Amino acid sequence: MGRRKISIIGSGFVGATAAHWAAEKELGDIVLVDILEGIPQGKALDLFEASPVEGFDAKVVGSNGYDETKDSDIVIVTSGVPRKPGMSREDLLLTNKKIIESVVTQVIAKSPKAILIMVTNPLDTMTYLTLKYSGLPKERVIGMAGILDTARFKAFIAMELAVSVEDIQSLILGGHGDEMVPLPRYTTVSGIPLSQLLPREKIDRLVDRTRKGGGEIVNLLKTGSAFYAPSAAAIQMAEAILKDKKRILPCCVYLDGEYGLKDICFGVPVKLGARGVESVIQLELTEGEKALVTRSAEAVKKSIAELRL
Ligand SMILES: NC(=O)c1ccc[n+]([C@@H]2O[C@H](COP(=O)([O-])OP(=O)(O)OC[C@H]3O[C@@H](n4cnc5c(N)ncnc54)[C@H](O)[C@@H]3O)[C@@H](O)[C@H]2O)c1
Repeated sequence: MGRRKISIIGSGFVGATAAHWAAEKELGDIVLVDILEGIPQGKALDLFEASPVEGFDAKVVGSNGYDETKDSDIVIVTSGVPRKPGMSREDLLLTNKKIIESVVTQVIAKSPKAILIMVTNPLDTMTYLTLKYSGLPKERVIGMAGILDTARFKAFIAMELAVSVEDIQSLILGGHGDEMVPLPRYTTVSGIPLSQLLPREKIDRLVDRTRKGGGEIVNLLKTGSAFYAPSAAAIQMAEAILKDKKRILPCCVYLDGEYGLKDICFGVPVKLGARGVESVIQLELTEGEKALVTRSAEAVKKSIAELRL
């Protein structure tokens, strides 16, 4: 068996950092693509030159075209503009729509069997656009958001309780916007329900901080958005697929009746393995949680409508 190939479209903050995580994990050979001349080539060479120091074995190349991406196993799409302070993810829709359409056409032409991991915002809408535009099966177009949002919630819980992040399990449903649905009821610390460790008001505050977690970083950075945690999350998805790990992770996928939702890309727990999305896990929700899911789905539907497909 040859080495696996991971192409990353967009070699900005998220794309280049994703390449870094993937190379260190030796997930396969990496191709970085960008429209900016020299940027993907320079970052790829720099990363490859780190390999003798760090001791990872991965070829890394950069390109302004798609020839090098031929027969990729996984393509991670990060091309597009990020938010600046005062912007919502929805403000990026029209600009990123054009970029995604052009990128997806070129990706599929070279790698018709690849699994696509979408990162570009607004995430749920760009995942939906990619699915419709490419005609790929729904198992092979997967958006990254839930792992990141859940990681933020876990990080805030770990900080609050002064415990290791490793012991926290949690889940977030819904669109990648401020209406996302963190699920404290499905959150434990080494098996101990969160509700036994923190009072309700404190949990509510952590939920609220999680919902606005992306904006918190945008306001601090001022010139761009988060990239370490988003790229790590995308690579966790790639690893689950490439190693056929059958991990249960919250991802943005096409729903056809699950959770009472149809014709939408939305964050739910799924099983990720070699075939991409191998199943959607249905959770039992309270009436309150269902209402929050409905509100989040309405926001995503509104954004999808703006694509005017
Ligand atoms: N899903 C999530 O949770 C999540 C998290 C963080 C960032 N994002 C999104 O990811 C995207 C990238 O963020 P970033 O911080 O890396 O931005 P960035 O500006 O650092 O990088 C984006 C790169 O895309 C390139 N690009 C633009 N058009 C292109 C095209 N047609 N073909 C190839 N490359 C192209 C740009 O030249 C740039 O280098 C943004 O849309 C951002 O909102 C999503």
